[in-house]
Amino acid sequence: MSSVRKPKRLRDMVEAKRVHIKTFGCQMNVYDSERIAEALAPIGFTQTNRPDDADLIVLNTCHIREKAAEKVYSELGRLRQLKSARQAEGKRTTIAVAGCVAQAEGAEIIRRSPVVDIVVGPQSYHRLPDLLFRAFQEGRRVVDTEFPDEDKFAHLPPRGKRQSCTAFITVQEGCDKFCTFCVVPYTRGIEVSRPVAAIVAEAERLVAGGVREITLLGQNVNAYHGEGPDGRTWSLARLLARLAEIEGLERLRYTTSHPRDMSADLIAAHGDNPKLMPYLHLPVQAGSDRVLAAMNRRHTARDYIELVERIRAARPDIALSSDIIVGFPGETDEDFEATLALVREVEFAQAFSFKYSPRPGTPAAKLDEQIDEAVKAERLARLQALLNEQQQKFNRHAVGRTMPVLFEKPGRNDGQIVGRSPYLQAVHAKGERRLIGQLREVEISAAERNSLSGVIKTTPDRGMTVAMGV
Ligand code: 5AD
Ligand code: SF4
Repeated sequence: MSSVRKPKRLRDMVEAKRVHIKTFGCQMNVYDSERIAEALAPIGFTQTNRPDDADLIVLNTCHIREKAAEKVYSELGRLRQLKSARQAEGKRTTIAVAGCVAQAEGAEIIRRSPVVDIVVGPQSYHRLPDLLFRAFQEGRRVVDTEFPDEDKFAHLPPRGKRQSCTAFITVQEGCDKFCTFCVVPYTRGIEVSRPVAAIVAEAERLVAGGVREITLLGQNVNAYHGEGPDGRTWSLARLLARLAEIEGLERLRYTTSHPRDMSADLIAAHGDNPKLMPYLHLPVQAGSDRVLAAMNRRHTARDYIELVERIRAARPDIALSSDIIVGFPGETDEDFEATLALVREVEFAQAFSFKYSPRPGTPAAKLDEQIDEAVKAERLARLQALLNEQQQKFNRHAVGRTMPVLFEKPGRNDGQIVGRSPYLQAVHAKGERRLIGQLREVEISAAERNSLSGVIKTTPDRGMTVAMGV
């Protein structure tokens, strides 16, 4: 009865609604999108993967590489048609742009794209219900790209129940490193670390809901320096040690790290913390000291190689991953050869490689000697050929070995399940769906470039128990 008396618009707000969230970019955006969905749940939103079925569409955008903003504008062009098609059916569609493009472009988005109702930056999305209400109730278009004083995490609802046995937790945001090619310090702001207690509470909740593996996220996660329960500043290594105490949590990972912040206690943790997986994403960006200096990386190629040696001394089987840029302004053939030489020396298990793209507002974008596209493409192809070779070699090395695999989901083929090795390789095996969410020893029988396949070993104890019918 009471709902009948509610003003029409308010009733529209609280009725069951659907939200479609499209995520671009990094794992931190994947995490933010989950939290956005959780922030909208209490006001009646459930998720849909069909944009044409959604009352609210959120584009969670990324600004890191080329044409990011242009991609968002063309996506908005498509949504314009969708919005008017739905309008013709008497349905209202609210469109929100979130994430780093929202932060970088701000009100410009509303000006250029009349289809947008809400622009919300990565630090303000906990206010989405409120912004939505304003957009809806007052019929206004709203922009919120402040870096608010309040901690958004403290204002978000607790983590909901998850489908998956793996989860991300953002523990640190922003970056003070100011690499000259990178927009992150401008879109995500300075480094801020969440307090230990909040992270532990979030992790415990996730584990109670069935999560077995947690990846700690941060733009520069190994610079983590959060407030500990003892009032002191805790390092990432200390946080990882505390999280490892959570019963039921089997695996920990973290990404992404700066070589300069690979502290001695964190290196030691790779040898000491049994739950910390032997995989490390450690961007090097280039192998020429001249280019590294121009990038303001504050390390040399030798520093990086020596660091890798120290990490490998702590954990000999660690799989190393990296980010590498080719064609930074002024990069000569010789500089590029130095990058190839570094890659040959380190031997990566896998790596991401990119053509340099000038990002508006960054110092490198203003440098003369921008490199020709064709040269960048040729260098990228050569680098990727080398990285592919190394990845294949790393994967082939797994064949014949037995390793624990955490099964995450059904595979593409019937009767197949897929999980991850400790080294983050995808592993396919024949197995029952009930094994999803569990760790099993798998003997690896074959390696592709991007994945492994193997046979699940029956543990002798369990095999016996089943055979004896106990
Ligand atoms: N051009 C090319 N690659 C870039 N990255 C960041 N900024 C740029 C840019 N302007 C890459 C870096 C970083 C990864 C996330 O994206 O390698 O580590
Ligand atoms: Fe960007 Fe990473 Fe450099 Fe920070 S450390 S400025 S996030 S590339």
